Amino acid sequence: MMVHQREAISRLPAYKQGAAAGDSGAFKLSSNENPFPPLASVTEAIASALGEIHLYPSMAVTEVTDRIAARFDVPAENVAFGAGSVEVLSQIIHASAGAGDEVIFAWRSFEAYPILVRVAGATPVAVALTADERHDLDGMADAITAQTRLILVCNPNNPTGAFVTADELQAFLARVPENVLVVVDEAYVHFNRDASSAVGIDFFRRYPNVAVLHTFSKAYGLAGLRIGYAIAPTEVAANLRRVALPFGVTAIAQRAALASLDAEAELTVRIDEIVAERTRVLMALRASGWPVTDSQGNFVWLRTGEGTDRVNAMFVHAGILARAFPGEGLRVTIGTAEQNDRFLVAAAAALAPATV
Ligand SMILES: Cc1ncc(COP(=O)(O)O)c(C=O)c1O
Repeated sequence: MMVHQREAISRLPAYKQGAAAGDSGAFKLSSNENPFPPLASVTEAIASALGEIHLYPSMAVTEVTDRIAARFDVPAENVAFGAGSVEVLSQIIHASAGAGDEVIFAWRSFEAYPILVRVAGATPVAVALTADERHDLDGMADAITAQTRLILVCNPNNPTGAFVTADELQAFLARVPENVLVVVDEAYVHFNRDASSAVGIDFFRRYPNVAVLHTFSKAYGLAGLRIGYAIAPTEVAANLRRVALPFGVTAIAQRAALASLDAEAELTVRIDEIVAERTRVLMALRASGWPVTDSQGNFVWLRTGEGTDRVNAMFVHAGILARAFPGEGLRVTIGTAEQNDRFLVAAAAALAPATV
């Protein structure tokens, strides 16, 4: 006889990690990781923390909280940390929505959204992207009901790379009741170069029901250490601290985050390089005939539809591991120039009319 388990959990799809390259020589471009190795100053900071791993870390993540609060000129009480922004997102969902409550998000977007909503016992309400791969904010506003507790706006959107403009977000927020929290997930904000884009923190300052989600995983290259945070309305941030697993953010992650904040000039050079590579990749894809939409993330999106599995198989054969969403498309992370070159060759080869 099976032990009792929540049925809603047993029916959930497991979160899928991008395929590992192992020693195959393939390039792993499936997880939107930063292609650069850690900075020396960051590994030194990590090494300096090793002698203290018998001690619990600062549960309040005090030093990094103070740095982030100063940097964005917000009170420290509005900043809440977790083991990666995905854990903070989980905290937000648990604090905001339970059984019978609805959480609205665009789809396709970050694949953790529907899973985390179901884990909390709430109901995901997925609103299809527009034909040009953008959030359908009108459709999302139309989907608001008396049960809506939370709305997730992924800007720029994973996996399509499309962004929400400031004007669009403002018009959207005018339609959202003030007691419904809107989270702007800015995991890829450092790669977003469009001046018309919504900037989450600006909206946090102006609206009582807006929170922003940031991570050290992508632009700062600390995906393996797990540290991210929300800047949220006071009562929301207090609840995130209540929901958080105690001591979830390690001292090593906290030290590495501080060192990364100290090294922002160096990191910005790397981010600029990734953005320049993204422009090169998009132009080359278009030149070879791929009808790709612009991306403001560290990835590009190929809408391969029914051809996704076939194109993905060709990529794997060519030593490129992308993130495949069968029936929809392929997301390919911007890597080093060498990795991107190999991807571009594979993409051009995959474009025979019978293939896509
Ligand atoms: C849109 C979005 N939000 C949040 C995350 C979570 O990142 P992390 O938990 O590493 O901060 C990701 C990771 O892929 C993402 O794509």
